[in-house]
Amino acid sequence: MTRPVLEIVQLGKTFSTAGGSHEIVKNFNVEVSEGEFVCLLGHSGCGKSTVLSIVMGLSSATVGGVCINGREIQGPGLDRGVVFQSACLFPWRTALDNVLLAVQQAHPSKSRKEQIALAQKALTRAGLADAGERRPTEMSAGMRQRVGIARAFALDPKILLLDEPFSLLDALTRMDLQDQLMRVWDTERKTVMMVTHDVDEALFLADRIVMMTAGPAAGIGKIISVPFDRPRTRADVLNHRDYYWMRDRLTNFLEEQGEIQKSARSPQVAGPERVMVRPAFDL
Ligand SMILES: Nc1ncnc2c1ncn2[C@@H]1O[C@H](COP(=O)(O)OP(=O)(O)O)[C@@H](O)[C@H]1O
Ligand SMILES: [Mg+2]
Repeated sequence: MTRPVLEIVQLGKTFSTAGGSHEIVKNFNVEVSEGEFVCLLGHSGCGKSTVLSIVMGLSSATVGGVCINGREIQGPGLDRGVVFQSACLFPWRTALDNVLLAVQQAHPSKSRKEQIALAQKALTRAGLADAGERRPTEMSAGMRQRVGIARAFALDPKILLLDEPFSLLDALTRMDLQDQLMRVWDTERKTVMMVTHDVDEALFLADRIVMMTAGPAAGIGKIISVPFDRPRTRADVLNHRDYYWMRDRLTNFLEEQGEIQKSARSPQVAGPERVMVRPAFDL
């Protein structure tokens, strides 16, 4: 069996603040295979970004660690492309120039002409063939996020890490960008770990969904495989006989975890049965 590209091993994170130390994530273990699309699903505040930022190399683990191709990461690297809720573009640079920066990092020995061609190709794949000359202020939020996705793919990273990349967009733009991401992923088959709290997004995009329990000391509640064939369209997914059944179970899991989170936040109103951690459902 080939070794997974990404291994998150016994990961734990504790933040120390003036108010004391807070164990946010505990005993988190996931392996991701080459070309696999994994979604990390969980309630707001459970620790999804904490896990992903450690995988990005932007934050260090308190316990355990992250390996890529068998080597423990020591910080950020060109092997990982990242996309956040907002695209974080350089405002004085055009869309093409923003993507070009990534191409120059990934392919420093190519000629400028080749680099521009690669940047343009990445923009085109992200649905922005004609927007290369626009600056971020001349683009909608959805277009800026497309540039962010184009930039991440242009790095040609081993792994793409996306932290709720569509959560600030309106519903139609979000669906549009999900479709676009699916099309680009279908041609490139990058290894992806994407954080979301949107059940439908996870079911549409992922091969596997890793569901996080409510914090504090959040871990993995359940990992499920998504059975929908690839390439998949939204209609295929919606019409699949398992779709509503799976959706129900994911939603129930999130509701359960939401109750646990509420109980943990207001212990004075929680009876003993409310603070008991219920086992995750079985699929
Ligand atoms: N740098 C930090 N210092 C202290 N606490 C933090 C820090 N970053 C995140 N947290 C806390 O960790 C918890 C999980 O945060 P986060 O990983 O952002 O959740 P999610 O992405 O699932 O919404 C939250 O309670 C948050 O307040
Ligand atoms: Mg987050």
